[in-house]
Amino acid sequence: MKKNNIVLVGGGSTWTPGILKAMTTHLDQFGLNQVVLYDVDQKRQEVIGEFAKILFKEEAPEVEVVYTTDKEVAYKEVDFVFCQMRTGGFDMREKDEKIPLQHGVIGQETCGPGGFSYGLRSIRDMEEMVRDVRLLSPDAWILNYTNPAAIVALALDKIFPKEDKILNICDQPVNLLRSYSKLIDHDVNKLEPVYFGLNHFGWFTHIYDETGRDRAPELKEIILNGGFRPVDAEQRDQSWLETYAMVEDMLKDFPDYLPNTYLQYYLYPEYKVKKLDPNWTRTDEVREGREKKVFEECRRIVDNGTARDSKVVHNDAHGDMMVEVAASIANNERKTFIVMVRNDGIIANLPDDSMVEVAATLGANGPQPYAVGQIGTFYKGLIENQHAFEKLTVEAYMEGSYTKALQALTLNRTVVDAKKARVVLDALIEANKDYWPELN
Ligand code: NAD
Ligand code: G6P
Ligand code: MN
Repeated sequence: MKKNNIVLVGGGSTWTPGILKAMTTHLDQFGLNQVVLYDVDQKRQEVIGEFAKILFKEEAPEVEVVYTTDKEVAYKEVDFVFCQMRTGGFDMREKDEKIPLQHGVIGQETCGPGGFSYGLRSIRDMEEMVRDVRLLSPDAWILNYTNPAAIVALALDKIFPKEDKILNICDQPVNLLRSYSKLIDHDVNKLEPVYFGLNHFGWFTHIYDETGRDRAPELKEIILNGGFRPVDAEQRDQSWLETYAMVEDMLKDFPDYLPNTYLQYYLYPEYKVKKLDPNWTRTDEVREGREKKVFEECRRIVDNGTARDSKVVHNDAHGDMMVEVAASIANNERKTFIVMVRNDGIIANLPDDSMVEVAATLGANGPQPYAVGQIGTFYKGLIENQHAFEKLTVEAYMEGSYTKALQALTLNRTVVDAKKARVVLDALIEANKDYWPELN
């Protein structure tokens, strides 16, 4: 089996230890020669980098581990780029969440004005990353998880239309699948999903088991009668438990399909705003929870010189999926994953240029999506509206257009009122003045 050189961009991310751990447990599927961690923040990188050296020394000493803040080192002769950066860090995520909420609209990392704001920051750094990688590794696969993945995916598709080795992925469908599998006590690897939508804006229509039986009706019944919790509920913060619980509400109102949890913000914006606190948002929860735990645990491991029995991993699904996606490409396994691809007729009655999230087999030549066909009027209406928001956001970035930015926010279901959109937009422009030269 080929031994790959990989780089993790955003190597100081809170998710990096989990991905590295998954890499050490999947070495028989995804061979490794060198692992490079790259980040723009030397301090974050060093803590996670030192942890990585200990982990691999104990689990796979043949793999070389390097951490760096130098792009030339990071992007040289790599086979796979795993990308999960956060432009502006948690300080800016906090503003994305709190500013809209101060004006009475949803403040969330990837949805509504927060997603718009984060999107405009992510696009520039992602574009730069792709250009830098291509200078030094023209054939590398770029696997992107950076949020807001829907906007990033659309922007990269517009900026690099000929690229066929960039794949945008989200772990939420797999988190949901794992949670369903627990409800029906069935091996998740034997469940075959049918899914359609945009990233953080989609639905499972069928969940087939290995006999061909659709388990979606049974799952809906279970959730409607007993609620819904994530498979790893004991590791989850309160806000995530509340998010999963909202699936029951969504199913009561719209029983056709199993919804992605992020739809709660678009279907119940007023209700959710009332539940959210503009002074204490998900960023505060992450800072006090995941970020603190990951960095404390990595420091402890470095002090002790061993990573054996460490509890540094959050959400196994995330790391496992990232490595399994890479393995499926590297070995031409053609396993099924839910990924983002240019529509081009997959969902027959949606625009060709939307980046849809659907099931696809994944092999050496990339994703081969399954056709979805026509979708119903309600779903078409919702998705077209959201796609228009995403497209106008990307165009606002590319053209430096305030008008398109205002149109984007006005279209978004979490905003709607143009006067509100303008107030929020102006506040976000002010908050992002170091990041959005085109709108300043
Ligand atoms: P984090 O802030 O802990 O990690 C991000 C890291 O990226 C930081 O260390 C930061 O210094 C670094 N960074 C910022 N700009 C960079 C650049 N231009 N080049 C290289 N590194 C850069 O955040 P996190 O909570 O760990 O999340 C990381 C990213 O992964 C976010 O975009 C998050 O939304 C995304 N994510 C996506 C999924 C998914 O399913 N798509 C799942 C988990 C996380
Ligand atoms: C889900 C989403 C990701 C998101 C992650 C963490 O897995 O699909 O896109 O980054 O949750 O979100 P959090 O709010 O915990 O940082
Ligand atoms: Mn996601």
